[in-house]
Amino acid sequence: CGIVGYVGTDDAKEILLRGLEKLEYRGYDSAGIAIAGNDGVHVYKEKGRIATLRECVDQNDEGFIGIGHTRWATHGVPSQVNAHPHQSTNKRFTIVHNGVIENYEQLRREYLQDVELASDTDTEIIVQLIERFAREGMATEEAFRKALSLLKGSYATALLDNEDTETIYVGKNKSPLLVGLSDNVNVVASDAMAMLQVTNEYVELMDKEIVIVTKENVTIKTLAGEVVTRDSYIAELDASDIEKGTYPHYMLKEIDEQPFVIRNIISKYKEEDESIKLDEDIRQAMLDADRIYIIAAGTSYHAGLVGKQLIEKIANKPVETHIASEFLYNMPLISENPLFIFISQSGETADSRGVLVNVKEMGHNALTITNVPGSTLSREADFTLHTYAGPEIAVASTKAYTAQMAVLAILAVDTAKAAGIQMDFDPLQELAIVASAMETLTDQKEQMEVIAREYLSVTRNCFFIGRAIDYFVCLEGALKLKEISYIQAEGFAGGELKHGTIALIEEGTPVVAVATQEHVNLSIRGNLKEVVARGASPCMISMEGLQESDDQLVLPKVHDYLSPLVSVIPLQLISYYAALHRDCDVDKPRNLAKSVTVE
Ligand code: G6P
Repeated sequence: CGIVGYVGTDDAKEILLRGLEKLEYRGYDSAGIAIAGNDGVHVYKEKGRIATLRECVDQNDEGFIGIGHTRWATHGVPSQVNAHPHQSTNKRFTIVHNGVIENYEQLRREYLQDVELASDTDTEIIVQLIERFAREGMATEEAFRKALSLLKGSYATALLDNEDTETIYVGKNKSPLLVGLSDNVNVVASDAMAMLQVTNEYVELMDKEIVIVTKENVTIKTLAGEVVTRDSYIAELDASDIEKGTYPHYMLKEIDEQPFVIRNIISKYKEEDESIKLDEDIRQAMLDADRIYIIAAGTSYHAGLVGKQLIEKIANKPVETHIASEFLYNMPLISENPLFIFISQSGETADSRGVLVNVKEMGHNALTITNVPGSTLSREADFTLHTYAGPEIAVASTKAYTAQMAVLAILAVDTAKAAGIQMDFDPLQELAIVASAMETLTDQKEQMEVIAREYLSVTRNCFFIGRAIDYFVCLEGALKLKEISYIQAEGFAGGELKHGTIALIEEGTPVVAVATQEHVNLSIRGNLKEVVARGASPCMISMEGLQESDDQLVLPKVHDYLSPLVSVIPLQLISYYAALHRDCDVDKPRNLAKSVTVE
């Protein structure tokens, strides 16, 4: 979910709506705003996108203070009733909230037995608690602090009080929240991009802090009420980067941007003498580590699987890659001197952040590889490597994935060189070849469209098979297809399919095989023959030098280590066209959010 708040001298509703549009990547199943005017607080909320909300907001409703929310449902189905803002029974207090309150049942039993709740959300508990404490005689700030101090779980929250329509009370724990500063205007936002229309000067909040925001002042306090002082910072973001231009979808634009992103990475990580430019502290942390633990979710996890291979093969250092949401519940043995690498496009994923907080408590070093340098994971880790992909807006990740792998390859080689390992692999030169190969493939869109039409127009499922590094790309190819076309898809290690899943192969089931590595080329072709013998419809994607005459697509040759950056391009494009053919919402697929800020 994403939240915004505005207090200033302009009409709040338009600024809040625009802010929410920028936060839609955090969820878009319902949205709402509350505006405080002369006659109290007015709430507008709707199921669906911000565009739907916009239609229901009364254009004549003027107010200079307000809060807003876009939701990714956790407690309670997406509906108008469960959409935020939520109000207390007497309507004095109005709240928006991002996060999950774990002890909401207990709080309800303990404090709110006599209150009839209007929604199924955990959020309503917070606003009802505040009303209760205010009735008992507490001032709003005190009631707010008391309510927050009772909560277990995560929250970023903003509160309006009907009886003081000059103040927004905000608080946070585990979920991201920033306060933006300007002249006679102050704002609240889940990320800096949302309020770039108003300011680029922000103050970061720490867990268990509250802020009292008026148009002239911003006062940070602890939950105990002690005032905290903190300097602001300037967010280096360019709002023009997030325009779609002439593209029909962000996803297509972002797929096409990949060659530029790779060239950008080369230039950012290159010294004048053509060697790798990397922070000395990061180099040392990599050298000092006896084992590396990569933690990530979704597509970033798939990049982490490739990262393991690269660091182990190139830098000869043991690496484990873990799914963030599993790590804390199923912790592996941790070596004596570990380095944790968090890979996250957004830098905001709650599952990854949960691990980061824990490993920092354990006293370990952490490096975040992210596309958003000011993000939570970047701020809270010891080191950050930037992926320089530019804002990624489409929910299905494309350019962030290839950028992450490019940075991991550079990091692996830098570590190897620092450790004195000799090699003839120059990642910066090889990435330049990758960029050209990507361009060749993004120029072949018609061919990808035909493959999508032939194989995926009517099917209900699809398999992707590969071995070694190609297997990891198959996992990503399957995820892309699932995310945006809703076709049931699985990525499989070529040799494993026959141990069970082959039972699903029927006449015409599409099986996409990827072969970019000579040592597995013949065996994966063997696996493909096994499924063809059972009726599958084969689509062979091979790399130049390994191709056979009836392969559907031949990828331009790049270095074996970097083949995932190239082999994923047709899989991204095929997914894109499959979704188009099936009339799916490419950029905002159902049930998903770009950045999941709850665990
Ligand atoms: C969400 C998105 C995925 C993404 C994952 C991790 O689930 O829908 O596309 O890969 O989060 O996001 P991150 O920003 O941490 O890379």
